[in-house]
Amino acid sequence: MTRADLRFAHISDLHILADASRLQHGVDTAAVLRQAIDMLNRLRPDFVVAGGDLISDESEDSYRRLQELLRPLTAPIHFLMGNHDARAAFRRIFHPSGPPSADPVCGAFEVGSMRFLLLDSSLPGKEEGAFSAGQLRWLEEELRAHADRPTWIFLHHQPLPIYIRWLDRLGLTNAEPFLSLVSRHAQVAAVAYGHVHQARSFRYGRTLFASVPALAFQFSPVNQEPEITQDSPGFRVVEITGGQMRQWLHFLDGRVVPEPRLPALPVYVR
Ligand SMILES: [Fe+2]
Ligand SMILES: [Fe+2]
Repeated sequence: MTRADLRFAHISDLHILADASRLQHGVDTAAVLRQAIDMLNRLRPDFVVAGGDLISDESEDSYRRLQELLRPLTAPIHFLMGNHDARAAFRRIFHPSGPPSADPVCGAFEVGSMRFLLLDSSLPGKEEGAFSAGQLRWLEEELRAHADRPTWIFLHHQPLPIYIRWLDRLGLTNAEPFLSLVSRHAQVAAVAYGHVHQARSFRYGRTLFASVPALAFQFSPVNQEPEITQDSPGFRVVEITGGQMRQWLHFLDGRVVPEPRLPALPVYVR
């Protein structure tokens, strides 16, 4: 395989627990993460984004266990917050030299000509997500200041419906100003998220919107009520070569599925 200019992986919903004996819906999430790390180390991505729901119980002990489990990962890793995370507890374990503030965990980094934005859509104490006015302002400033850089945006909650009633109630509740911002900045190549515990992707305007399977239990893509399926955990790998993007879903049962041509949704922005 020729080396891509850039290769990165998006994992999400690791749902790690400090208690090694506790299964979640029959799944040992630590074992899933260990297997995923073996696969990622063979794929040698330039970086990995872990898209929130890093742990299941908002506890420092679970973050400590996550940190321990991630030690064999060779690639740099960036973290997002999900509805099962706790910002201060996360900071105490992963950034012990800084203040353990409960401010949103967000940031930006560049690799080559590309820019990657990490947003925090979590709302403490809530399952659904939202962006604060401050975070939307920050996003707008970022996009204005780097209009020439192809950009990927990562967040935890889905900003567009997936037509599963119970999950759509728990998505990004103030998606409209976010979608409007994305539609006004042509450099946004993709918006990537987790939370829905299944891979769903489509084009919305110029932009790819893509969710990943959980590195834990999966939610049914058809049942309108909550249902856990036996589908395999997995993650997305993206390669950029000569400005062209290719992507695959890597499942822990061994399947590697190239992302097909994506259906385009009509854009509706008020
Ligand atoms: Fe989750
Ligand atoms: Fe979530």
